[in-house]
Amino acid sequence: MSVIQVTDLKKSYGGIHALSGCSMTFEDKAINGLIGPNGSGKTTLFNVITGYETADSGQVSLRGQDITNAKPDEVFEQGIGRTFQITRIFPRLTVLENVHVAAQRQGFVAQARGWDSAAERERAMEVLEFVGLARLAPEIAGDLSYGQQKLLEFAFITMARPSVILLDEPAGGVNPSLLRHISDRIRALNSEGVTFIIVEHDMEFVMRLCDQVLVMHQGSALTSGPPEQVRSDPAVLEAYLGTGPKEGS
Ligand SMILES: Nc1ncnc2c1ncn2[C@@H]1O[C@H](COP(=O)(O)OP(=O)(O)OP(=O)(O)O)[C@@H](O)[C@H]1O
Ligand SMILES: [Mg+2]
Repeated sequence: MSVIQVTDLKKSYGGIHALSGCSMTFEDKAINGLIGPNGSGKTTLFNVITGYETADSGQVSLRGQDITNAKPDEVFEQGIGRTFQITRIFPRLTVLENVHVAAQRQGFVAQARGWDSAAERERAMEVLEFVGLARLAPEIAGDLSYGQQKLLEFAFITMARPSVILLDEPAGGVNPSLLRHISDRIRALNSEGVTFIIVEHDMEFVMRLCDQVLVMHQGSALTSGPPEQVRSDPAVLEAYLGTGPKEGS
């Protein structure tokens, strides 16, 4: 079954076709990998799905319901959470304060669920526990390592228990042991039924973790399938080789 389906999405910036008729189906309760060369439109697709950019044309649907060009808050309310390629934390606040601020920005969710400040604090500690940052709760967030900051952002979005989580390059610049920890947490949430869509250049990470891998090239879908099949697809290799050397960012 599909959870998010995009149909013929187009998005241009001046003369650049970031999305040039992109159609894809992300499977429900799966870990979906989304790969493609730099500039192939992955982040733009995330931005359009989550309402941070509007599509020029085409549709986005969530479990069959049209959510095309919904506002970020509305998309969030529908249970879609995301992280950003450039991590968005508050570097001068403590780790715990960061999670509190995130919860407040998600205020409508807290309200709907009847959270008071005690319940919110409890939930904040619970999510920090889950990602393994509870011990660092009183530390200044800007002092955390890059990988820990990514974990903190991951903690934010799990506060409201989204059913779909979009991660934009969770592994970039993260050390191997923290990387295993991140994979672990993704698997743990996935085993509780959370769907993931993960954009990542670290192929080992993607191939080990994902149930299905979708490939973008020049703003549209190139192919999709099980990791092993995609990895050995000559068209995928060609897409990567054809657009110059790739970096891990
Ligand atoms: N706000 C913007 N203004 C102008 N051009 C943009 C903007 N956002 C994206 N683009 C362009 O659209 C194309 C797709 O960019 P996008 O960031 O979606 O690619 P990506 O697949 O996420 O790449 P990467 O792997 O490097 O993160 C690129 O050519 C990019 O320069
Ligand atoms: Mg990107």
